[in-house]
Amino acid sequence: MQKNIWEREYRERKDLPSTRTREPSRVLVWYIENFVETGKVTPGSALDIGSGFGRNSIHLAKRGYDVVGVEIVRDAIETAGKEAEKAGVAHRVRFVEKNVGEPLSLEDASFDLIIDMMTMHSLNREERAAHAQNVVRLLKPNGHFLFYTIFADSPDAKELFNTSPGPELNSYIIPQTGAVEKAFTKDELTHIFSPLIVVELEIKSESIRAFDKVYDRQFLLGVMGKG
Ligand SMILES: C[S@@+](CC[C@H](N)C(=O)[O-])C[C@H]1O[C@@H](n2cnc3c(N)ncnc32)[C@H](O)[C@@H]1O
Repeated sequence: MQKNIWEREYRERKDLPSTRTREPSRVLVWYIENFVETGKVTPGSALDIGSGFGRNSIHLAKRGYDVVGVEIVRDAIETAGKEAEKAGVAHRVRFVEKNVGEPLSLEDASFDLIIDMMTMHSLNREERAAHAQNVVRLLKPNGHFLFYTIFADSPDAKELFNTSPGPELNSYIIPQTGAVEKAFTKDELTHIFSPLIVVELEIKSESIRAFDKVYDRQFLLGVMGKG
């Protein structure tokens, strides 16, 4: 658990796109347009893994979901609660302080949608296994797991594996913060979240501004379900 690094990001650095904006993730907007607005799924209960300042939880609440956001940084949870009040959706969102890399005491098969917007790359191997078990256990039979994470088979990630290697395969250390990030191949994600079935798994290229520079990065957008 890299709690200290995330506490610093929220208190002092504010380097990352998700820390700077209150707009929902584009990936979540895409999911709402393609799955909710087309009637393929109906809003119900949602779990936001690593909910940060709550931008995605709040967006889901506005679209009719009842949301639980799980986050390790208390300051972020407090801000997220205030933002939910301001947005008039506090009655639909609950933020919980907890490591998502441990078993979550939530009811089996209780979520229609579980989202992980750029959190799993911060987890170590054991935490990732617990995270996957949580997702598989907590998802309803017709539910979706929506995620956005770092793609390993890309030139930008490969350069980082060489110049600033991390402790496990396809991981690196961010020189500016000391944070360890793990990147994933498509096969790895399919394996980690098995027995979930892939509904969508796409590579996305994005220019990201962080640490006062713009980086061309590649990510994986995924939707998985129980089939
Ligand atoms: C890149 S931020 C994304 C925040 C949010 N998903 C968003 O898109 O706005 C990753 C978030 O995951 C949280 N996080 C990292 N490791 C965690 C863990 N083990 N348990 C719970 N939250 C964690 C961080 O504190 C941070 O808020």
